Amino acid sequence: MNKSAIGVFDSGVGGLSCVKELLHILPGEDIKYLGDTLRMPYGIKTIEELHRCAKDNVAFLQRRGVKLIAAACGTVSSNVPKEHLDNLTVPFVDVINPTVIAALKATKTKRIGIIATPATIKANSMGLRLAELDSEVQVIGVACPDFVPLIESGHINDDVIRKSAEGYLAEIRAFGADTLILGCTHYPLISAVIADILGDGVTLIDSGRETAIGIRMTLEKLGLLNERENGGTAEYFVTNNTEAFDGVAKVFLGEEANVNSILKNIED
Ligand code: DGL
Repeated sequence: MNKSAIGVFDSGVGGLSCVKELLHILPGEDIKYLGDTLRMPYGIKTIEELHRCAKDNVAFLQRRGVKLIAAACGTVSSNVPKEHLDNLTVPFVDVINPTVIAALKATKTKRIGIIATPATIKANSMGLRLAELDSEVQVIGVACPDFVPLIESGHINDDVIRKSAEGYLAEIRAFGADTLILGCTHYPLISAVIADILGDGVTLIDSGRETAIGIRMTLEKLGLLNERENGGTAEYFVTNNTEAFDGVAKVFLGEEANVNSILKNIED
């Protein structure tokens, strides 16, 4: 048993797709969430830049005494292996394995689509892991560079995001995937739009939700769950001002998010 908080980070609001599920499946756990909104978007950064961001985020959360850290970020998970985070001192969960396993469970035709940021598609970590686990699986990856900036500015269910999604999803449709991995944790925030465009024949895999399930499994395995069944708290930090984050968080989580800004310096 361990009463310390779970640490979760992403570039912005995307990791809230993981938090939303954590609040549901582990209501007794405290959560400390870091959205690195100042350096968002991550999906067009170099591996070196992503490494720097991930290390800073890990250090920030560890200074706040978390018992586990989750990179609720497909881009960091695909480009910065845990072994490269030399400052990491607590158990670490990323997006790749839980998400890929859920997709393999869901697919019947073994045709899987992945939509994600340019850096995630380029790294192809999810595609490689899928092939490792099932050599018959066929995969198409489509980068969607416009999604994160649109979602961060509040386009969650309107004509702007719909038009953008129709363009990106045409390739997924043409490929005939029966399962689509939302390989960026921001994308579950627009899953209603994506589901509407693709229709019932395509199962969507929410990488944020699957990461939350991966966190629970890891805490269980390591004996680190908080035994409290309810009453967990969530604290949110962002690296620039809180307005945009507040707005999206409220719509997506359905509650005020109590966000702190660490405008000065992530190293504080
Ligand atoms: N939500 C993150 C991901 O899963 C980061 C996206 C971005 O900042 O570009 O990839």
